[in-house]
Amino acid sequence: MSQPTTRKVIYDTDPGVDDAMALYYALAHPGIYIIGITTTFGNVTVEQAATNALYLSALAARAVPVTRGAARPWVKPGEAPPAHIHGADGLGNLSTRAPHALVLDPRPSAQFIVDMARAHPGEITLVAVGPLGNLAAALLLEPQLPQLVQEVIVMGGTVLEPGNVSPVAEANVWNDPHAADIVFNAGWTITMVGLDVTHRLILPVSLFARIAAHHQHAATDTLLHAVNFYAGFYSGLYPHVAAIHGCFGHDVLAFIYLTNPELFSLEHGRVRVVKDGLAQGQTVLRRKTIPYPQTGWDPQTPVTSVCMEVDHTGAADVFTRTMLGDWLRP
Ligand code: BDR
Ligand code: CA
Repeated sequence: MSQPTTRKVIYDTDPGVDDAMALYYALAHPGIYIIGITTTFGNVTVEQAATNALYLSALAARAVPVTRGAARPWVKPGEAPPAHIHGADGLGNLSTRAPHALVLDPRPSAQFIVDMARAHPGEITLVAVGPLGNLAAALLLEPQLPQLVQEVIVMGGTVLEPGNVSPVAEANVWNDPHAADIVFNAGWTITMVGLDVTHRLILPVSLFARIAAHHQHAATDTLLHAVNFYAGFYSGLYPHVAAIHGCFGHDVLAFIYLTNPELFSLEHGRVRVVKDGLAQGQTVLRRKTIPYPQTGWDPQTPVTSVCMEVDHTGAADVFTRTMLGDWLRP
């Protein structure tokens, strides 16, 4: 693995099938220590997201603190979760769930983020793979948060690749564009892992079957079930994904950026989010250096590092090696 030290991560998530995939990659990787899972609405309601985070942690025998956070967007009205993509339960409609004893941390997600950042100044990386309300709320609670956290990595947005909920918008940003614009412009070290790269990483269901056969474990069996459902959705939409009966590895790519940044090419510039109208949720990267006269594009304002290209074969190899490692106890 390319990361010599273990990074302390708060995983902000709306599990969700690819969120589950990403969680298990993070738990499997020796360079990542998940100190908490903060949940939000998105792929499912926030209640279901928290239930799923606890369940996935319990299956993997990791008692990670889990909190419940944003239940709806900051400004625009909420919408019904996309049950046709992730299943009504977010994990591909599991037929049964094993009982477990894990319970929620009582703190709201934003408070947990602030508490951890204050307790470990300069050491926490936020990996956020859902709508960004928890991070925006944490910034309100603690205006010094950008100085307290080490780094923020966001799965969301797109620059050149077409959107997945409108021609220009990616789902996480579209779900809460007001929160996203705050987060991209808070002044912390932030990297956007958007559709420009996540649409390049297509993982076949056969890989998850191989991982499940290797471990013979409830955690990887559950992941296989969920991914199979998710791949059905993507295969119905994209012929090149159907050709390998696979799915995009959106959220896991945020963690692969953390562990293997050498696989990515970046551009750097201001990212603004369109909040209303036909282009709602569009992430616009200020790529040129001329002094634009319009307000909102000031060159002195915060810069986001944006992943534009990925070595997807390298990323799939890292994912496979990590998932086949010795991370699940019997
Ligand atoms: C993002 O939206 C969600 O459906 C996925 O979990 C991912 O975070 C992809 O646009
Ligand atoms: Ca997600």
